[in-house]
Amino acid sequence: MADKLIIFDTTLRDGEQSPGASMTREEKLRIARQLERLKVDVIEAGFAASSNGDFEAIRAIAQTIKESTVCSLARANDRDIARALEAVAPAPRRRVHTFIATSALHMEKKLRMTPEQVLDQAVRAVSFARNSIDDVEFSPEDGYRSDPDFLCRVLEAVIKAGATTLNIPDTVGYGVPALYGEFIHMLRERVPNSDKAIWSVHCHNDLGMAVANSLAGVKIGGARQVECTINGLGERAGNTALEEIVMAVRTRRDYFDLELGIDASQIVPASKLVSGITGFVVQPNKAVVGANAFAHASGIHQDGVLKARDTYEIMRAEDVGWAANKIVLGKLSGRNAFKQRVQELGIPVESDTDLNAAFTRFKDLADRKSEIYDEDIQALFSADGVDGVEQEFYKFVSMSQYSETGKRPSARVRFTVGGAEVNSEAAGNGPVDASIRAIEAEVGSGAEMVLYSVNAISGGTEAQGEVTVRLTKAGRIVNGVGTDPDIVAASAKAYLSALNKLHDKTKLNPQTAEEDNI
Ligand code: KIV
Ligand code: ZN
Repeated sequence: MADKLIIFDTTLRDGEQSPGASMTREEKLRIARQLERLKVDVIEAGFAASSNGDFEAIRAIAQTIKESTVCSLARANDRDIARALEAVAPAPRRRVHTFIATSALHMEKKLRMTPEQVLDQAVRAVSFARNSIDDVEFSPEDGYRSDPDFLCRVLEAVIKAGATTLNIPDTVGYGVPALYGEFIHMLRERVPNSDKAIWSVHCHNDLGMAVANSLAGVKIGGARQVECTINGLGERAGNTALEEIVMAVRTRRDYFDLELGIDASQIVPASKLVSGITGFVVQPNKAVVGANAFAHASGIHQDGVLKARDTYEIMRAEDVGWAANKIVLGKLSGRNAFKQRVQELGIPVESDTDLNAAFTRFKDLADRKSEIYDEDIQALFSADGVDGVEQEFYKFVSMSQYSETGKRPSARVRFTVGGAEVNSEAAGNGPVDASIRAIEAEVGSGAEMVLYSVNAISGGTEAQGEVTVRLTKAGRIVNGVGTDPDIVAASAKAYLSALNKLHDKTKLNPQTAEEDNI
């Protein structure tokens, strides 16, 4: 029987470290539920010691997720590990993932520790974790740039201390496929007790080779776990893309000869959910989940596909969850039809109150848009969804705007600030600019907008606009997403959503954490 390849998803931890991708507890919970539907083996839900918010999010995920293993990251110290253990405790399957840097550069310049101190600390951390939990993963950060002799000593020692998974990160995306694959192979050959642990790969995409490197780590190196994120989300150029790993291993089973536990039909819903929540739009030509991934524009291709599908297609769109745009509901649809479609789409709704609130938003949308697609229903539950409602400090109520050729546009926005309603008005270069100025006139955040983008959720001019804005202030970067058939209103909602995130507390980033936190 073929070996199993373990899919370890770190969208909620390494993915969340992308500038502006930080998520609320409810958003993380929604993504975790989707990851469970996707049947990922391990969900790295966060970094418990980084903030109370992340601790609470991991704990909520641990209380909810039954099938996947729930994992928390922890630096190699007792305090971090104790926090991680406490956060994952409610999960039926749980893991602690502890790490410390092992490259000469990181040890000397970042940690200011000697190699012997690092070795000692790694062993102590793993032993401490193993006293309380059976499933312990260890990562030598910047492992790929570490001295092989020293790395082998560390890995042998942490296996002896009880590590059950050894993950070898290419933290800075420096690897090339054959070399990274051979590196994993060399470690497995040289570490005497290497057969006592599962080997894992964790690659960053700085040179665009994260997926290729991970697959080489599996094929050449013999790794049996891949760490990855939905849409390749992650700091800088991102992490290994889950959807590409899964479909490569599945489509080229003849070559990889590995089993996967994944339900691939949940890939596209997961991609849309993550993109909608984080505001990281998927490029149209992105493999598997890009809007053009299965679209044939050239006449020769279209002709070939019509005659025999496999002339130009190696995967089927429906196998990864692409569904033809279906008109599902409209203005006359009732609550039961709405509820049934929500259930068919697998959208979790906790209570009747939540469903009623979503149905009210649906009716409001149906008044302005005659055909409601699956994507529209999903959007009702994402940016302005039920889960987020109580948390919003700033909340959009309504707006009006005026624009005429040759005249300066103006906008009036009505929104709530900590529950109290305000009305604010401003003029601007265009209606979007005017609406943002109106909000700023009241809030005075002083944030700088570094990105503004509009995307159509479904096709046609009647489609809902999905607007993403990225704001930066005092070194923090946040994204906000808003949807509405009126793109000016979508822009105001996106801006308020970004302001809500600025209102939240900052989190620690494990890679940039200070020495005294170790
Ligand atoms: O890239 C990296 O080194 C990491 C570790 C913390 C596993 O994300
Ligand atoms: Zn990483």
